[in-house]
Amino acid sequence: MATNRTFTMLKPDAIENGYMGKIIDMIIGAGFDIKALKYTKLSVEQAKEFYAVHAERPFYGELVEYMSSGPIVAAILEKDNAVEDFRKLIGATDPAEAAEGTIRKAFAENKGRNAVHGSDSDENAEIEGKFHFAANEVF
Ligand code: RTP
Ligand code: MG
Repeated sequence: MATNRTFTMLKPDAIENGYMGKIIDMIIGAGFDIKALKYTKLSVEQAKEFYAVHAERPFYGELVEYMSSGPIVAAILEKDNAVEDFRKLIGATDPAEAAEGTIRKAFAENKGRNAVHGSDSDENAEIEGKFHFAANEVF
């Protein structure tokens, strides 16, 4: 069943580089409603669990270290066709390949430090949202 929600994180590089407000503004400007929002930090264990799907990839250690290196903003977003439209808004994983007008094109440093996360399916959007938010934190 299709859902109209997705999950995002503004990653540590985006926060460190001062882009929190600009990225949230782009997200709202693109028509997404914020249903939940949190300024927080992942522990090493949480980063490992969140990206467990990549555990066998060569970049996993680096990814876990980076994602737990500083504060992030986590959010649940709502819009028609949210997962697909948000992936379009953030652009390709590697900012060198990201389209003009995308968040990663504007704010990502490189393929690893790429400013934002976006869920890749409705199922993962729900799992990831629940990973970060209790029911009474979602509006
Ligand atoms: P995300 O899950 O964070 O939204 O990113 P994505 O779908 O565009 O990319 P994915 O393949 O799921 O990779 C997850 C994150 O791992 C880091 N990565 N580094 N150095 C590398 O070759 C490499 N490849 C991936 C990135 O931070 C990527 O977003
Ligand atoms: Mg992914």
